[in-house]
Amino acid sequence: MTTSQVSFTRQDSYSAQYYFSITHTDAYWKEEASHLTWMRPFEKIKETSFSPGEVDIRWFNGGKLNVSENCLDRHLKTRSDQAAIIWESDDGKETRTLSYSELLNQVCLFASALLELGIRKGDTVTLYMPMVPETAIAILACARIGAVHNVIFAGFSSDALAERMADAGSKLVITANEGLRGGKIIPLKTYVDRARQYCRETLGHEVRQTIVLKRTDSKTAWEPGIDHWWHELMIPTAPVVEPVAMDAEDPLFILYTSGSTGKAKGLVHTTAGYLVYAHSTFRFLAGDSRIFWCTADVGWITGHTYMLYAPLCAGLTTVMYEGIPGSPSADRLATIIDRHNVDMLYTAPTLIRSLMSAGNAALGNSHRTSLRRLGTVGEPINPEAWRWYRDVFGNGRCPVIDTWWQTETGGIMIAPVSGENKPGAAATPLFGIRADIVDDEGHPVPPMTRGNLVIRDSWPGQARTIYGDHARFEETYFSTVPGCYFTGDGAWQDEDGHFWISGRVDDVLNVSGHRLGTAEIESAITSHPAVCEVAVVGQPHPVKGESVYAFVTLMNGQKVSDSLSTELRVRVREKIGALAVPEVIHWTPYLPKTRSGKILRRVLRKLAAGETRDLGDLSSLADQEGLSAFLQQK
Ligand code: WTA
Repeated sequence: MTTSQVSFTRQDSYSAQYYFSITHTDAYWKEEASHLTWMRPFEKIKETSFSPGEVDIRWFNGGKLNVSENCLDRHLKTRSDQAAIIWESDDGKETRTLSYSELLNQVCLFASALLELGIRKGDTVTLYMPMVPETAIAILACARIGAVHNVIFAGFSSDALAERMADAGSKLVITANEGLRGGKIIPLKTYVDRARQYCRETLGHEVRQTIVLKRTDSKTAWEPGIDHWWHELMIPTAPVVEPVAMDAEDPLFILYTSGSTGKAKGLVHTTAGYLVYAHSTFRFLAGDSRIFWCTADVGWITGHTYMLYAPLCAGLTTVMYEGIPGSPSADRLATIIDRHNVDMLYTAPTLIRSLMSAGNAALGNSHRTSLRRLGTVGEPINPEAWRWYRDVFGNGRCPVIDTWWQTETGGIMIAPVSGENKPGAAATPLFGIRADIVDDEGHPVPPMTRGNLVIRDSWPGQARTIYGDHARFEETYFSTVPGCYFTGDGAWQDEDGHFWISGRVDDVLNVSGHRLGTAEIESAITSHPAVCEVAVVGQPHPVKGESVYAFVTLMNGQKVSDSLSTELRVRVREKIGALAVPEVIHWTPYLPKTRSGKILRRVLRKLAAGETRDLGDLSSLADQEGLSAFLQQK
């Protein structure tokens, strides 16, 4: 460090390091990559293009490594007996601790079972699992043998599961006979059976085998030769499975997420770049934390990166909870923190808001003195919730780290790295991340002006493609602002250059931190024969951030009724899952449209938010009188 740098404030020091990281990209990422264990060193660092029609993203080419070796084997010398996973059951009556050596042993046994069932490098394996240690074991076993995992959130319906299994060409699905969440039983195996049938009969894809974990004592339907019990496959004398040497760009997993149009997209993350990025960003998030609890379900990217891969790669203890953090009582989260001495909590604003509204009940008899850091992710956090999190929940002793990122980014992109925390601001780009804000024409906007958040250059954790549809990948992320990755989020920068994320600028909803595509919900509702047209928008919600609001027009002669609204909700539950069910169904004979027939969602969003006055520019509206009649009807 030079003498002049010594006198830098933290912000200045951030600026200097940030500048270095984006001007000496190769040097920066070479150093970050050196924290991993490589089987063969890489030859190239970055070979990426965001050019229209030629989008191609490769990092660390020539290198070989295995993710499970990095998360397990390499820790054995120093922390073989240290807890890798601490798990707590839904009812809180059971806890399990797996040390690094125990976890490695289980992963090897399961990897051997997968090999026995004929799974090989490059095959896709779907997981539809509860939050239990076996889920982590199965994921790491896939990584060990080079199978591509495809985790589907267990709150999705069997139809949604089927579509994702078929799209990913999945050969095998791993599930449990039943899952337990908030005291409720979820018949996972029954859903898997239905999904396999739907796959076979409607989608023309055969998922040949099922592995079933026995989580409860209930009986389940069984097809010999197809269904296999987890415990029967784990043969203690199985040969040790060595980690397969994976190419840097071999796929590690597919994870489906919702977009503004069409069906869910299977984003592909690859081996080296993803792990380098997960590991590198985790330092900023976790600092010197030792017992880290990320409350996200493994079915989402946050669960992948910061519940599983990053903490294990860094040799920490990760806490895994089967149930819902606010259930059965509001102090559940705080109790778990005390019981396991959690020193960093990473959770979503929606949960913080619901705890805040519970007041003292959220704290119970807990003291939460083990906490040293607090993190948030998934949605914009309102300053009030931010302050409550820091001052009440965290006893005013812990920094709050608001982290902005996406399934597509693999890991955190914007967070208060510079050390300056403002309530509600995700703050500053991480090192190596060229974030910017542009207007609809792609020109940079001045400070304090809202625009579209874009990233100007690649980073290692970036998704490489949409499985089976690279053209859609290019179109979705690289065509809006040529030469940039388009995030789909709106943001503005303050006078200090700090980023404030305002939410999606496309037709993606964020309900309790869960990303939902309006197009998917609309298509579920329009599949009902009584329905003519549907427009789904988000309605601001005090706890969930947003809730699903559906404007529905009916076919001629169809009548509005309670039973019809129930049927529509059931459709959404069956096609997508309970998380997408509309809170409000607004029957209307009219939807505001442009002369070319496009629904003016901007107007509907305002109407759903209860704003009927300032509806913005309505010059493109085809039927002005229809809107007046509609507003009067409200
Ligand atoms: C939103 C979750 C504001 C954003 C990791 C993004 C946020 C979408 C924040 C991605 C944050 C995530 N502040 N908004 N700190 N973090 N978002 O793919 O709209 O499930 O595009 O990834 O969540 O959701 P996803």
